[in-house]
Amino acid sequence: MPEFKSRLPLPDGHVAMVPSILSADMSCLGKDVDAVSKADWLQVDVMDGHFVPNISYGPGLVKALRGMTKLPLDAHLMIDNPADFILPFAKAGADLITFHLEASENPEKIIRQIKALGLSAGLAIKPQTPVSAAEPFVKHLDLFLVMTVNPGFGGQAFMAECLGKVAQARELISRSGRQIWLQVDGGIGPDTAPAAALAGADSLVAGNAVFGNKNPSQAVQKMRELCA
Ligand code: DX5
Repeated sequence: MPEFKSRLPLPDGHVAMVPSILSADMSCLGKDVDAVSKADWLQVDVMDGHFVPNISYGPGLVKALRGMTKLPLDAHLMIDNPADFILPFAKAGADLITFHLEASENPEKIIRQIKALGLSAGLAIKPQTPVSAAEPFVKHLDLFLVMTVNPGFGGQAFMAECLGKVAQARELISRSGRQIWLQVDGGIGPDTAPAAALAGADSLVAGNAVFGNKNPSQAVQKMRELCA
């Protein structure tokens, strides 16, 4: 019997808007989280200063967020040795755990580890990693994340050259016949969200474009309308 139960919804054709806490104001996190209560779920960008040149936060922030919101929580592990941290993030209250293909010797084993706990499993690839490298694992996933920036920082420019990879990933998911979210993360805003959705993404992560806006709720709604 799995220890937890993921509350991540299944893909249903709409484009899910996923604010990234990375750009939220940590001095009033509760206020920022309340402001995006109408989002589909929240993403927590976990960085270890090794896999990416930045350090962010650990399971403690997921635990704190669990007490602030009913939205599903998506832990994006931009870390080395992700297998060591699946249980701590599950215990902290994550619904979805996404790890990087480039940080794992045995992605299938980590996917099984996440799903055995009752959580949703996501796999992410950096801009330089071809979609074909993830092909053997996609059929086991609940979410496939194609990064459109080099991971590590918020507020970077969208890499339009990755749109071809988004289309390839959509093709791969369609061929799998399974309900798998195709998530895009990095430089998503009103001017880039439509192109990402058109290429096949149905989950858009946005940090700076949401929490850098004086009205985060409106920023989420605007991007949702632009992608409808
Ligand atoms: C990797 C992080 C960021 C974050 C979104 O650097 O994963 O992509 O989620 O940041 P913005 O939306 O500000 O590019």
